[in-house]
Amino acid sequence: MLLFSSKKELIAHLATLKNTSTTVGLVPTMGALHKGHLSLIKKAISETKVVVVSIFVNPTQFDNQDDLKKYPDTLDADLASLKNVSEELIVFTPSAIELYSNNISSKEYDFDGLDKTMEGKYRSNHFLGVATVVEKLFSIVQPNKAYFGEKDFQQLLIIKKLIENTNMPIEIIGCPIVREPHGLAMSSRNERLPKDLRIKASFIYETLLAAKEIFGTKSATNVMNWVKNKFGKQPEFDLEYVKITDQETLNPIKRKQKNTKYRAFIAVYVDGVRLIDNIALN
Ligand code: PAF
Repeated sequence: MLLFSSKKELIAHLATLKNTSTTVGLVPTMGALHKGHLSLIKKAISETKVVVVSIFVNPTQFDNQDDLKKYPDTLDADLASLKNVSEELIVFTPSAIELYSNNISSKEYDFDGLDKTMEGKYRSNHFLGVATVVEKLFSIVQPNKAYFGEKDFQQLLIIKKLIENTNMPIEIIGCPIVREPHGLAMSSRNERLPKDLRIKASFIYETLLAAKEIFGTKSATNVMNWVKNKFGKQPEFDLEYVKITDQETLNPIKRKQKNTKYRAFIAVYVDGVRLIDNIALN
C-alpha cells in the first residue's frame, strides 16, 4: 500500500501508472472507516485498475466547530483496515494546508437548489465545503470513476451536478447503504452512541420501511405526518426533519406521478448524535 500526503508526489506517481488502458477509481473519505466505506472501496477495486482512497477531515464542510473537533481521528486503524482489503491501494492523506494552501474556505456553486434543502438547510454551507474539497480531489487524482455512498444521497446528487456543471470526465457511482445487523445505517457517528441506543436506533430504518409501505396508498403529506407522529412518541429521538421528495430534483411532491422516483429522507438526534438515513419509495 502506498501512502501520499503531498499532492505533487501523488500526481507524479499516478502519471507513471496512467496509460490509455489504466482506469483510476477514487473513494473520497474523512476516515473513521467502517463497512460502508469498505464496500465503496471493494466496488472501486472490482471496476478500476488503480484505486485511490483519500482520508481528509474537511474543515470547510463543518458548520459546527464542535462537530469537527469531535470527528474521530483513527488513521492507524483506518490504514490497517485498508491494508486488509488490498495491499495495492493508494492512500492520500493531505493536510488542510496541502489541499487548500492558505485559503481554507469554500467556493461558491450553483446546484439548482439541490444544496438548499434538508442537509443544506440545517447545516449551512455544508455542501459548498463538500463540493470544494471533492473538486480539489478530482483535479488532483483525475479518476475515471468516483464512488459515494447513498446514505448521503443529497451529497451524491450534488456531486453529480458538480460533474455536469464542470464537464469533468468522471463517472460518479452511487453505492447502496450498508447497515448494521439491527438496521441502523453505517456511519462514523454510530460509535458515539451507547450500545443500547445504537440498537434502539434501528427504529429509524424500521420507520422508513413502514413509511415505504404506507406510501403505496397514502399521500406524501400523510406519510410525513405519520412519521412525525411516530417519532413524537419516542423520547430518545429528536426528529429534525422528514421529507419525501422527487429523487432527482429533491422537490417536494405535489401529486404522485407514474414515472417519477420518490425517496424519503430523515435526520434524527439520538442522545445528541445526529443521524441521517433515506429510502427509495418506489
Ligand atoms: O462523505 C464524506 O465522507 C465527505 O463528505 C467527503 C465526500 C469525503 C468530502 O469530504
